[in-house]
Amino acid sequence: MENIIINMNGEIFTNQDAKISVLDRGFLYGDSVYEVIRTYNGIPFLLDDHLKRLWHSASKIGLHIDLTPEQITQEINKTLAELEDENAYIRVVITRGEGPITLDPTTSEKNNVVVIVKPLPENPKQWYEKGVSVIIANVLRVDRLAVDPNIKSGNYLNNIMAVREAKNQGAFDAIMLNNEGYVTEGSTHNIWMIKNNTVFTPPLKAGILEGITRKAVLLLASQNKIAVEQRNITPDELINADEAFLTATTKEIVPITEIDNSYVKDGRPGHLTRKLMVIYKNYIKQLTSF
Ligand SMILES: Cc1ncc(COP(=O)(O)O)c(C=O)c1O
Repeated sequence: MENIIINMNGEIFTNQDAKISVLDRGFLYGDSVYEVIRTYNGIPFLLDDHLKRLWHSASKIGLHIDLTPEQITQEINKTLAELEDENAYIRVVITRGEGPITLDPTTSEKNNVVVIVKPLPENPKQWYEKGVSVIIANVLRVDRLAVDPNIKSGNYLNNIMAVREAKNQGAFDAIMLNNEGYVTEGSTHNIWMIKNNTVFTPPLKAGILEGITRKAVLLLASQNKIAVEQRNITPDELINADEAFLTATTKEIVPITEIDNSYVKDGRPGHLTRKLMVIYKNYIKQLTSF
């Protein structure tokens, strides 16, 4: 049995026995917000940024969070205390709660708050040494005027459909376009390309989640005098880029070496991507060693 610790409204379960009501709106409608955080050396990384985003997501859908950020932090720490691993995966889920079966969001009274913690094994070395292959999905990213992708909600059906396409084609992940035909993001990753030594990533207005790793990489690139720009990217530009990579909390920076079955340049992780990987590793070290 996988070693998962679950904190359900403050009660700790070490035996995977936590249960949620079928009348919970998270279960019925994906009416919830969440964050995925990770630890290095037992310490949650960039926790403040994640909590800020959690509150941002909640406010965008008018979901009141009954706890304070300090109380959520306490619950995270309480859950983490049950796990000995230095590197942990943390998922915080806050639902709008239980109530009658109706879409009306005013009918539920209190949140269900779940913190899931489990060991985070090292990712396969191959991802970083050889890179990963992605496809451009047929399914579009949901429009930001419909359900803004910058809300990290429990409603991930759009992304699941993209992952289905990727898995059907044996790819690591799928990149979704928006309805104007521009690149948005991967199923749980932000997307980047490098052309003529400039690093490009789609802007928030393309319809993406403002990734915490993305924010860090934007900052680190400019601090290290690497030219970086947020602008719309066409799929053609991405396929013909010099380098490409993806970013996410639990994966950090992963080179993309194949798109739609054709290699990005020579099919090997590029030098600027590798440089950013080193810079990001150093940044983690800086923030997590005492
Ligand atoms: C849709 C989506 N885009 C991007 C990301 C990357 O965000 P972060 O760097 O905060 O993990 C995630 C993370 O889960 C995501 O779900």
